[in-house]
Amino acid sequence: MIQSFLNTERAQTVKSIAARLAPRTNGEANKLSVEDRSVHDWYRFVLSFPPHLVRTYLSRFGVTERQRVLDPFCGTGTTIVECKKLGIPSLGIEAHPMTAFASRVKSDWTIDPAGLGNDARRVAEIAEQKIKNGKVEFELPPDAEKILLRDSISPKPLKKALAILAAMDEAGDPEFREHELLALAKTLVFTASNLNFGPEVGVGKIKSDAAVVLSWLENIRIMRQDISKLKDMAVITSQISQDDSREMVNKLEPMSINAVITSPPYPNEKDYTRTTRLESVILGFINNRKELQNLKRKLIRSNTRNIYKDDSDAAHIDNFPEISMLANKIEARRVELKKTSGFERLYASVTRQYFGGMARHMASLRQALAPGACLAYVVGDQASFFRIMIRTGELLSQIAVSLGYELIGIDLFRTRLSTATRSQLREEIVVLRWPG
Ligand SMILES: C[S@@+](CC[C@H](N)C(=O)[O-])C[C@H]1O[C@@H](n2cnc3c(N)ncnc32)[C@H](O)[C@@H]1O
Repeated sequence: MIQSFLNTERAQTVKSIAARLAPRTNGEANKLSVEDRSVHDWYRFVLSFPPHLVRTYLSRFGVTERQRVLDPFCGTGTTIVECKKLGIPSLGIEAHPMTAFASRVKSDWTIDPAGLGNDARRVAEIAEQKIKNGKVEFELPPDAEKILLRDSISPKPLKKALAILAAMDEAGDPEFREHELLALAKTLVFTASNLNFGPEVGVGKIKSDAAVVLSWLENIRIMRQDISKLKDMAVITSQISQDDSREMVNKLEPMSINAVITSPPYPNEKDYTRTTRLESVILGFINNRKELQNLKRKLIRSNTRNIYKDDSDAAHIDNFPEISMLANKIEARRVELKKTSGFERLYASVTRQYFGGMARHMASLRQALAPGACLAYVVGDQASFFRIMIRTGELLSQIAVSLGYELIGIDLFRTRLSTATRSQLREEIVVLRWPG
Protein backbone atom coordinates (compact mmCIF):
# COMPACT_ATOMS: atom_id res chain seq x y z
CA MET A 1 0.00 0.00 0.00
CA ILE A 2 2.73 2.43 0.99
CA GLN A 3 4.88 1.53 -2.02
CA SER A 4 2.05 2.05 -4.51
CA PHE A 5 1.33 5.47 -3.04
CA LEU A 6 4.94 6.59 -3.38
CA ASN A 7 4.46 6.84 -7.14
CA THR A 8 1.28 8.91 -7.07
CA GLU A 9 1.18 12.58 -7.88
CA ARG A 10 0.19 13.55 -4.33
CA ALA A 11 3.09 11.61 -2.85
CA GLN A 12 5.50 13.31 -5.22
CA THR A 13 4.07 16.70 -4.24
CA VAL A 14 4.41 15.95 -0.53
CA LYS A 15 7.94 14.62 -1.08
CA SER A 16 9.06 17.63 -3.04
CA ILE A 17 7.53 20.07 -0.53
CA ALA A 18 9.30 18.23 2.29
CA ALA A 19 12.63 18.32 0.48
CA ARG A 20 12.28 21.98 -0.48
CA LEU A 21 11.58 23.14 3.02
CA ALA A 22 13.80 20.75 4.95
CA PRO A 23 15.83 22.80 7.45
CA ARG A 24 19.60 23.02 6.98
CA THR A 25 20.80 23.97 10.42
CA ASN A 26 20.04 22.95 13.98
CA GLY A 27 18.75 26.45 14.74
CA GLU A 28 16.27 26.37 11.86
CA ALA A 29 14.89 22.94 12.73
CA ASN A 30 12.12 24.13 15.05
CA LYS A 31 11.22 27.38 13.29
CA LEU A 32 8.00 28.19 11.48
CA SER A 33 9.06 29.26 8.00
CA VAL A 34 7.37 32.22 6.31
CA GLU A 35 5.79 29.93 3.69
CA ASP A 36 4.16 27.95 6.50
CA ARG A 37 2.56 30.82 8.39
CA SER A 38 -0.95 30.53 6.98
CA VAL A 39 -3.34 29.08 9.59
CA HIS A 40 -0.46 27.67 11.72
CA ASP A 41 0.21 31.20 12.90
CA TRP A 42 -3.38 31.89 14.04
CA TYR A 43 -2.25 30.69 17.45
CA ARG A 44 0.85 28.64 18.31
CA PHE A 45 2.82 28.05 21.48
CA VAL A 46 6.43 27.51 22.41
CA LEU A 47 5.82 23.75 22.57
CA SER A 48 4.64 23.45 18.96
CA PHE A 49 6.68 21.53 16.43
CA PRO A 50 7.10 22.90 12.90
CA PRO A 51 4.90 21.97 9.91
CA HIS A 52 7.91 20.87 7.84
CA LEU A 53 8.50 18.05 10.33
CA VAL A 54 4.93 16.83 9.76
CA ARG A 55 5.42 16.97 5.97
CA THR A 56 8.68 15.05 6.19
CA TYR A 57 7.02 12.14 7.99
CA LEU A 58 3.82 12.19 5.91
CA SER A 59 6.09 11.83 2.92
CA ARG A 60 8.32 9.20 4.49
CA PHE A 61 5.29 7.15 5.56
CA GLY A 62 3.68 7.60 2.12
CA VAL A 63 0.37 8.77 3.57
CA THR A 64 -2.46 9.23 1.05
CA GLU A 65 -5.68 11.26 0.99
CA ARG A 66 -7.55 7.98 1.49
CA GLN A 67 -5.87 7.35 4.83
CA ARG A 68 -6.17 8.91 8.27
CA VAL A 69 -3.53 10.51 10.47
CA LEU A 70 -3.75 10.81 14.26
CA ASP A 71 -1.99 13.24 16.59
CA PRO A 72 -2.83 12.03 20.13
CA PHE A 73 -1.11 15.05 21.78
CA CYS A 74 -2.13 17.58 19.15
CA GLY A 75 -1.50 20.80 21.14
CA THR A 76 -2.24 23.72 18.82
CA GLY A 77 -2.95 21.44 15.87
CA THR A 78 0.19 21.57 13.72
CA THR A 79 -0.27 18.00 12.45
CA ILE A 80 -3.98 18.49 11.84
CA VAL A 81 -3.61 21.80 9.95
CA GLU A 82 -0.73 20.48 7.85
CA CYS A 83 -2.67 17.32 6.94
CA LYS A 84 -5.69 19.40 5.97
CA LYS A 85 -3.57 21.66 3.75
CA LEU A 86 -2.32 18.54 1.98
CA GLY A 87 -5.79 16.98 1.62
CA ILE A 88 -5.23 14.23 4.21
CA PRO A 89 -8.00 13.42 6.76
CA SER A 90 -6.85 13.61 10.37
CA LEU A 91 -7.83 13.33 13.99
CA GLY A 92 -6.38 15.19 16.95
CA ILE A 93 -6.65 14.38 20.65
CA GLU A 94 -5.72 16.95 23.26
CA ALA A 95 -6.49 17.04 26.98
CA HIS A 96 -6.07 20.78 27.54
CA PRO A 97 -9.28 22.71 26.71
CA MET A 98 -7.46 25.82 25.44
CA THR A 99 -5.20 24.02 22.98
CA ALA A 100 -7.97 21.59 21.97
CA PHE A 101 -10.08 24.67 21.19
CA ALA A 102 -7.23 26.22 19.18
CA SER A 103 -6.82 23.03 17.14
CA ARG A 104 -10.55 22.88 16.49
CA VAL A 105 -10.79 26.49 15.29
CA LYS A 106 -7.58 26.26 13.25
CA SER A 107 -9.02 23.34 11.34
CA ASP A 108 -12.40 24.99 10.64
CA TRP A 109 -12.14 26.83 7.32
CA THR A 110 -15.86 26.73 6.56
CA ILE A 111 -16.88 30.19 7.74
CA ASP A 112 -17.51 33.12 5.39
CA PRO A 113 -14.42 35.37 5.53
CA ALA A 114 -16.35 38.54 4.59
CA GLY A 115 -18.97 37.81 7.27
CA LEU A 116 -16.19 37.34 9.83
CA GLY A 117 -14.70 40.71 8.88
CA ASN A 118 -18.04 42.54 9.15
CA ASP A 119 -18.89 40.96 12.46
CA ALA A 120 -15.46 41.72 13.95
CA ARG A 121 -15.64 45.37 12.86
CA ARG A 122 -19.03 45.74 14.53
CA VAL A 123 -17.74 44.10 17.73
CA ALA A 124 -14.61 46.29 17.66
CA GLU A 125 -16.70 49.48 17.40
CA ILE A 126 -18.81 48.49 20.39
CA ALA A 127 -15.71 47.49 22.35
CA GLU A 128 -14.05 50.85 21.57
CA GLN A 129 -17.17 52.63 22.83
CA LYS A 130 -17.13 50.62 26.04
CA ILE A 131 -13.44 51.37 26.57
CA LYS A 132 -14.01 55.08 25.86
CA ASN A 133 -16.96 55.65 28.15
CA GLY A 134 -15.32 53.48 30.81
CA LYS A 135 -18.64 53.12 32.61
CA VAL A 136 -18.77 49.34 32.61
CA GLU A 137 -16.52 47.62 35.11
CA PHE A 138 -14.44 44.92 33.43
CA GLU A 139 -12.80 42.65 35.94
CA LEU A 140 -12.00 38.97 36.17
CA PRO A 141 -13.73 36.98 38.92
CA PRO A 142 -11.32 36.79 41.95
CA ASP A 143 -10.95 32.98 41.70
CA ALA A 144 -9.86 33.32 38.08
CA GLU A 145 -7.47 36.17 38.83
CA LYS A 146 -5.77 34.09 41.55
CA ILE A 147 -4.53 31.50 39.05
CA LEU A 148 -3.02 34.01 36.61
CA LEU A 149 0.76 34.43 36.69
CA ARG A 150 1.37 37.62 38.68
CA ASP A 151 1.70 40.69 36.41
CA SER A 152 1.16 38.62 33.28
CA ILE A 153 -1.18 41.36 32.03
CA SER A 154 -1.55 45.02 33.09
CA PRO A 155 -4.97 46.47 34.04
CA LYS A 156 -5.51 48.59 30.91
CA PRO A 157 -4.85 45.88 28.26
CA LEU A 158 -6.88 43.46 30.38
CA LYS A 159 -9.85 45.83 30.41
CA LYS A 160 -9.63 46.21 26.64
CA ALA A 161 -9.61 42.44 26.12
CA LEU A 162 -12.59 42.07 28.47
CA ALA A 163 -14.38 44.85 26.56
CA ILE A 164 -13.99 42.84 23.34
CA LEU A 165 -15.44 39.80 25.09
CA ALA A 166 -18.37 41.84 26.41
CA ALA A 167 -19.00 43.32 22.94
CA MET A 168 -18.94 39.82 21.44
CA ASP A 169 -21.52 38.67 24.00
CA GLU A 170 -23.67 41.68 23.27
CA ALA A 171 -23.54 41.97 19.49
CA GLY A 172 -21.36 39.24 17.96
CA ASP A 173 -22.76 36.61 15.61
CA PRO A 174 -22.32 33.15 17.24
CA GLU A 175 -21.21 31.78 13.85
CA PHE A 176 -17.94 33.72 14.14
CA ARG A 177 -17.48 33.54 17.89
CA GLU A 178 -14.87 30.77 18.00
CA HIS A 179 -12.62 32.36 15.39
CA GLU A 180 -12.95 35.72 17.13
CA LEU A 181 -12.03 34.12 20.46
CA LEU A 182 -8.94 32.47 19.00
CA ALA A 183 -7.85 35.79 17.46
CA LEU A 184 -8.25 37.30 20.93
CA ALA A 185 -6.14 34.51 22.47
CA LYS A 186 -3.30 35.42 20.12
CA THR A 187 -3.69 39.13 20.88
CA LEU A 188 -3.67 38.42 24.61
CA VAL A 189 -0.36 36.55 24.46
CA PHE A 190 1.55 38.51 21.85
CA THR A 191 0.21 42.07 22.18
CA ALA A 192 -1.66 42.58 25.44
CA SER A 193 0.42 40.57 27.92
CA ASN A 194 3.74 41.12 29.67
CA LEU A 195 4.73 37.51 28.99
CA ASN A 196 7.89 36.27 27.37
CA PHE A 197 8.78 32.75 26.39
CA GLY A 198 12.16 31.27 27.19
CA PRO A 199 11.50 27.99 26.66
CA GLU A 200 9.73 28.66 30.01
CA VAL A 201 6.97 31.23 30.21
CA GLY A 202 7.90 34.24 32.32
CA VAL A 203 6.93 37.84 32.94
CA GLY A 204 9.06 40.39 31.11
CA LYS A 205 8.79 44.13 30.73
CA ILE A 206 5.55 45.48 32.20
CA LYS A 207 3.61 47.51 29.63
CA SER A 208 1.01 49.93 30.90
CA ASP A 209 -1.10 49.83 27.74
CA ALA A 210 -1.35 48.07 24.35
CA ALA A 211 -3.26 48.37 21.06
CA VAL A 212 -5.51 45.43 21.86
CA VAL A 213 -8.47 46.12 19.55
CA LEU A 214 -6.23 46.95 16.60
CA SER A 215 -4.15 43.80 17.05
CA TRP A 216 -7.32 41.69 17.34
CA LEU A 217 -8.68 43.13 14.08
CA GLU A 218 -5.34 42.42 12.39
CA ASN A 219 -5.47 38.79 13.56
CA ILE A 220 -8.99 38.54 12.16
CA ARG A 221 -7.78 40.00 8.85
CA ILE A 222 -5.07 37.32 8.61
CA MET A 223 -7.64 34.60 9.35
CA ARG A 224 -9.95 35.91 6.62
CA GLN A 225 -7.10 36.00 4.12
CA ASP A 226 -6.00 32.43 4.95
CA ILE A 227 -9.55 31.05 4.82
CA SER A 228 -10.14 32.68 1.42
CA LYS A 229 -6.98 31.05 0.04
CA LEU A 230 -7.66 27.62 1.50
CA LYS A 231 -11.44 27.38 1.07
CA ASP A 232 -11.15 24.45 -1.39
CA MET A 233 -9.54 22.35 1.34
CA ALA A 234 -12.26 23.13 3.93
CA VAL A 235 -14.03 19.85 3.12
CA ILE A 236 -11.10 17.68 4.18
CA THR A 237 -12.13 15.88 7.35
CA SER A 238 -10.43 16.91 10.55
CA GLN A 239 -11.72 16.09 13.98
CA ILE A 240 -10.52 17.26 17.38
CA SER A 241 -11.40 15.45 20.53
CA GLN A 242 -10.72 16.87 24.00
CA ASP A 243 -9.63 13.74 25.78
CA ASP A 244 -6.88 11.87 27.62
CA SER A 245 -4.65 9.94 25.22
CA ARG A 246 -3.85 7.35 27.85
CA GLU A 247 -7.46 6.18 27.62
CA MET A 248 -8.23 5.54 23.99
CA VAL A 249 -9.50 1.98 24.10
CA ASN A 250 -13.01 1.85 22.57
CA LYS A 251 -12.92 5.56 21.71
CA LEU A 252 -11.31 5.27 18.27
CA GLU A 253 -12.64 3.10 15.49
CA PRO A 254 -10.66 -0.16 15.36
CA MET A 255 -7.84 -0.21 12.76
CA SER A 256 -8.80 3.26 11.48
CA ILE A 257 -5.45 5.06 11.85
CA ASN A 258 -2.72 4.76 9.19
CA ALA A 259 -0.14 7.12 10.66
CA VAL A 260 0.63 8.91 13.91
CA ILE A 261 2.72 12.10 14.00
CA THR A 262 2.96 13.58 17.46
CA SER A 263 5.00 15.20 20.19
CA PRO A 264 3.98 14.14 23.71
CA PRO A 265 5.23 15.97 26.84
CA TYR A 266 8.74 15.07 28.08
CA PRO A 267 9.72 14.25 31.67
CA ASN A 268 11.08 17.63 32.71
CA GLU A 269 10.03 20.43 35.00
CA LYS A 270 7.76 22.16 32.48
CA ASP A 271 4.23 22.80 33.73
CA TYR A 272 2.19 22.57 30.54
CA THR A 273 -0.71 24.46 32.08
CA ARG A 274 1.43 27.58 32.72
CA THR A 275 2.33 28.13 29.07
CA THR A 276 -1.27 28.94 28.11
CA ARG A 277 -2.55 30.15 31.50
CA LEU A 278 -3.42 33.74 30.57
CA GLU A 279 -5.61 33.00 27.56
CA SER A 280 -7.07 29.86 29.21
CA VAL A 281 -8.30 31.97 32.13
CA ILE A 282 -9.48 35.05 30.22
CA LEU A 283 -11.36 33.00 27.65
CA GLY A 284 -12.96 31.03 30.50
CA PHE A 285 -11.45 27.57 29.91
CA ILE A 286 -10.04 27.43 33.45
CA ASN A 287 -11.90 29.41 36.11
CA ASN A 288 -10.43 28.42 39.46
CA ARG A 289 -7.85 26.25 41.24
CA LYS A 290 -10.12 23.22 41.33
CA GLU A 291 -10.57 23.26 37.55
CA LEU A 292 -6.82 23.74 37.12
CA GLN A 293 -6.12 20.70 39.27
CA ASN A 294 -8.72 18.61 37.44
CA LEU A 295 -7.03 19.51 34.18
CA LYS A 296 -3.55 18.62 35.48
CA ARG A 297 -4.84 15.18 36.43
CA LYS A 298 -5.75 14.56 32.79
CA LEU A 299 -2.22 15.27 31.58
CA ILE A 300 0.71 12.90 31.28
CA ARG A 301 2.75 13.22 34.47
CA SER A 302 5.75 15.11 33.17
CA ASN A 303 6.59 17.48 36.04
CA THR A 304 6.38 17.66 39.82
CA ARG A 305 3.42 20.07 39.70
CA ASN A 306 1.14 17.39 38.34
CA ILE A 307 1.93 14.43 40.57
CA TYR A 308 -0.78 13.11 42.92
CA LYS A 309 -0.86 10.56 45.75
CA ASP A 310 -3.27 8.27 43.91
CA ASP A 311 -1.30 8.25 40.61
CA SER A 312 -0.99 4.71 39.33
CA ASP A 313 0.55 4.94 35.84
CA ALA A 314 3.90 3.66 37.17
CA ALA A 315 2.37 0.18 37.44
CA HIS A 316 2.49 -0.02 33.63
CA ILE A 317 6.30 -0.10 33.56
CA ASP A 318 6.75 -2.54 36.45
CA ASN A 319 8.58 -4.94 34.14
CA PHE A 320 11.08 -2.30 32.95
CA PRO A 321 14.21 -2.57 35.10
CA GLU A 322 15.86 0.30 33.10
CA ILE A 323 13.21 2.77 34.26
CA SER A 324 13.22 1.56 37.87
CA MET A 325 17.01 1.81 37.88
CA LEU A 326 16.86 5.34 36.47
CA ALA A 327 14.28 6.45 39.06
CA ASN A 328 16.34 4.81 41.85
CA LYS A 329 19.47 6.60 40.61
CA ILE A 330 17.64 9.96 40.70
CA GLU A 331 16.45 9.30 44.26
CA ALA A 332 19.92 8.15 45.38
CA ARG A 333 21.44 11.34 43.93
CA ARG A 334 18.87 13.41 45.84
CA VAL A 335 19.84 11.72 49.10
CA GLU A 336 23.54 12.11 48.31
CA LEU A 337 23.07 15.84 47.55
CA LYS A 338 20.91 16.22 50.70
CA LYS A 339 18.12 17.82 48.67
CA THR A 340 14.92 17.79 50.69
CA SER A 341 12.37 20.06 49.00
CA GLY A 342 8.94 18.64 48.25
CA PHE A 343 9.54 19.00 44.50
CA GLU A 344 12.93 17.29 44.53
CA ARG A 345 11.48 14.35 46.45
CA LEU A 346 9.08 13.85 43.51
CA TYR A 347 11.65 13.62 40.68
CA ALA A 348 11.90 9.82 40.86
CA SER A 349 8.14 9.54 40.95
CA VAL A 350 7.68 11.81 37.89
CA THR A 351 10.10 9.57 35.98
CA ARG A 352 8.13 6.42 36.79
CA GLN A 353 4.69 7.97 36.28
CA TYR A 354 5.73 9.60 32.98
CA PHE A 355 6.95 6.41 31.33
CA GLY A 356 4.03 4.48 32.85
CA GLY A 357 1.59 7.02 31.33
CA MET A 358 3.25 6.77 27.93
CA ALA A 359 3.08 2.95 28.16
CA ARG A 360 -0.63 3.23 28.92
CA HIS A 361 -1.07 5.54 25.92
CA MET A 362 0.83 3.26 23.55
CA ALA A 363 -1.08 0.19 24.78
CA SER A 364 -4.48 1.85 24.38
CA LEU A 365 -3.61 3.11 20.88
CA ARG A 366 -2.93 -0.36 19.42
CA GLN A 367 -6.53 -1.35 18.67
CA ALA A 368 -7.00 1.80 16.54
CA LEU A 369 -3.97 1.20 14.31
CA ALA A 370 -4.35 -0.26 10.83
CA PRO A 371 -1.86 -3.03 10.03
CA GLY A 372 1.34 -1.42 8.75
CA ALA A 373 0.58 1.96 10.38
CA CYS A 374 3.69 4.12 10.85
CA LEU A 375 4.28 6.34 13.88
CA ALA A 376 6.60 9.28 14.64
CA TYR A 377 7.02 10.44 18.27
CA VAL A 378 9.08 13.61 18.76
CA VAL A 379 10.65 13.55 22.23
CA GLY A 380 13.64 15.06 23.98
CA ASP A 381 16.33 13.76 26.29
CA GLN A 382 16.34 15.47 29.67
CA ALA A 383 18.80 16.19 32.44
CA SER A 384 16.65 18.39 34.69
CA PHE A 385 16.60 15.94 37.62
CA PHE A 386 20.01 16.38 39.37
CA ARG A 387 21.69 16.25 35.94
CA ILE A 388 20.89 12.57 35.49
CA MET A 389 20.37 11.89 31.82
CA ILE A 390 16.93 10.60 30.85
CA ARG A 391 17.12 9.13 27.34
CA THR A 392 13.43 9.61 26.59
CA GLY A 393 13.51 8.36 22.98
CA GLU A 394 15.46 5.21 23.82
CA LEU A 395 13.23 4.31 26.75
CA LEU A 396 10.02 4.96 24.82
CA SER A 397 11.30 2.75 22.00
CA GLN A 398 11.87 -0.10 24.45
CA ILE A 399 8.37 0.31 25.87
CA ALA A 400 6.89 0.39 22.36
CA VAL A 401 8.72 -2.78 21.31
CA SER A 402 7.50 -4.58 24.46
CA LEU A 403 3.95 -3.65 23.42
CA GLY A 404 4.35 -5.23 19.98
CA TYR A 405 5.44 -2.21 17.90
CA GLU A 406 8.41 -2.52 15.52
CA LEU A 407 11.18 0.04 15.96
CA ILE A 408 12.14 1.48 12.56
CA GLY A 409 14.73 3.87 13.98
CA ILE A 410 15.44 6.96 16.06
CA ASP A 411 16.12 10.08 13.96
CA LEU A 412 17.85 13.17 15.29
CA PHE A 413 15.59 16.24 15.01
CA ARG A 414 17.90 18.78 16.64
CA THR A 415 20.04 19.30 19.73
CA ARG A 416 19.32 21.76 22.56
CA LEU A 417 21.64 23.18 25.15
CA SER A 418 20.86 21.83 28.63
CA THR A 419 20.82 24.62 31.22
CA ALA A 420 21.57 22.06 33.95
CA THR A 421 24.63 20.40 32.39
CA ARG A 422 25.61 22.89 29.62
CA SER A 423 25.76 19.86 27.31
CA GLN A 424 23.74 19.29 24.14
CA LEU A 425 20.57 17.26 24.61
CA ARG A 426 19.09 15.31 21.72
CA GLU A 427 15.57 15.92 20.48
CA GLU A 428 14.63 12.84 18.53
CA ILE A 429 11.93 11.24 16.45
CA VAL A 430 11.14 7.69 17.45
CA VAL A 431 9.84 5.98 14.32
CA LEU A 432 7.67 2.91 14.86
CA ARG A 433 5.52 0.57 12.80
CA TRP A 434 2.49 -1.44 13.80
CA PRO A 435 2.97 -4.96 12.34
CA GLY A 436 0.82 -6.24 9.53
C1 LIG B 1 4.59 19.09 23.14
S1 LIG B 1 2.91 19.54 23.19
C2 LIG B 1 2.35 19.19 21.54
C3 LIG B 1 2.52 20.34 20.61
C4 LIG B 1 1.96 20.12 19.22
N1 LIG B 1 2.77 19.18 18.47
C5 LIG B 1 1.87 21.45 18.45
O1 LIG B 1 2.50 21.55 17.41
O2 LIG B 1 1.22 22.37 18.94
C6 LIG B 1 2.20 18.23 24.10
C7 LIG B 1 0.71 18.36 24.30
O3 LIG B 1 0.22 17.19 24.95
C8 LIG B 1 -0.90 17.56 25.74
N2 LIG B 1 -1.17 16.47 26.68
C9 LIG B 1 -0.53 16.18 27.83
N3 LIG B 1 -1.04 15.08 28.39
C10 LIG B 1 -2.03 14.65 27.57
C11 LIG B 1 -2.93 13.54 27.61
N4 LIG B 1 -2.90 12.66 28.60
N5 LIG B 1 -3.80 13.39 26.58
C12 LIG B 1 -3.85 14.27 25.57
N6 LIG B 1 -3.04 15.36 25.50
C13 LIG B 1 -2.13 15.54 26.48
C14 LIG B 1 -0.46 18.88 26.35
O4 LIG B 1 -1.56 19.64 26.80
C15 LIG B 1 0.28 19.54 25.19
O5 LIG B 1 -0.57 20.38 24.44
